[in-house]
Amino acid sequence: IDVMIGLSIWPRPDPAKDELLIRVGGCSLAPGDTRNLRGDCDIMGPTTPYLVGGDLSGVVVKVGGEGASSSSSSSPSSTFKPGDRVCAMFDFRPKGGLAEYATIKRANTSHVPENLSLLEAAALPSSALAAMRCAETQMRKGDRVLVLGASGGVGTHLVQFLRKFGSSHIAGTSSDAKLLHGLGVDRVIDYRCDDWSEVKEYQGENRFDLIIDLVGSYESWRKAKSLKVLKVAGEGGGTRPSLETTVTCKCTATPT
Ligand SMILES: NC(=O)c1ccc[n+]([C@@H]2O[C@H](COP(=O)([O-])OP(=O)(O)OC[C@H]3O[C@@H](n4cnc5c(N)ncnc54)[C@H](OP(=O)(O)O)[C@@H]3O)[C@@H](O)[C@H]2O)c1
Repeated sequence: IDVMIGLSIWPRPDPAKDELLIRVGGCSLAPGDTRNLRGDCDIMGPTTPYLVGGDLSGVVVKVGGEGASSSSSSSPSSTFKPGDRVCAMFDFRPKGGLAEYATIKRANTSHVPENLSLLEAAALPSSALAAMRCAETQMRKGDRVLVLGASGGVGTHLVQFLRKFGSSHIAGTSSDAKLLHGLGVDRVIDYRCDDWSEVKEYQGENRFDLIIDLVGSYESWRKAKSLKVLKVAGEGGGTRPSLETTVTCKCTATPT
């Protein structure tokens, strides 16, 4: 992060009816946080101060609203009580994952399974959710897939979901081959010295069925278009999985 972050004392927030107050155990920062900090994105609108960090984990201190431990939904997974270990994803406006206490929307919250630490859980919310949604809606079983930017917050989850959902071959661009091989990626293309569009193994009959671009450059789109591997996906459609589903699935995914 190359922007200035100030430290300040801020009152402990009080949770609204649809919120939980948590003592923060972990917070993960994504490119969206740095874009907000730079002012490159209008998500935070005119509201200041901007309390950084929306993907976070922690322990529930207080449940907002009346009937403290119950929620409006009858699902057990949406019931939270003080002492629960939880993680939550970015709300429309982040409210201070980099603080001791934060309020989170119940609808954006999942319990943290016992086999995950709070720090590990903090890395999951929007990165894993975006990855799971992408894999579920864009990939068909047996597809050969290339992930551009596979070693990042979204990519490391995505390659595991692609494998779990039945991709027959996964290639990823990154400077960290060791990390990606450890996550089950078949071939790592180091973008610093190799151009993915020129790798012989992936020409003609062996071309990719799906290319997922997490780096976002015009160059990638131009190449994908000229190789006729481009699909118009847009938002991808489908139903967004719940955070609870994503967290559970991530915990049981076994990369091969
Ligand atoms: N994180 C989230 O919660 C989330 C959710 C939804 C959407 N998104 C969006 O998805 C995109 C990716 O997010 P992220 O969190 O995965 O980002 P990230 O953690 O910063 O990862 C960036 C990836 O891009 C690679 N990369 C960097 N420079 C490159 C270059 N010149 N050529 C090719 N690859 C390059 C990096 O590889 P090396 O490090 O190996 O060099 C790394 O794999 C962003 O636009 C983000 O806003 C993120």
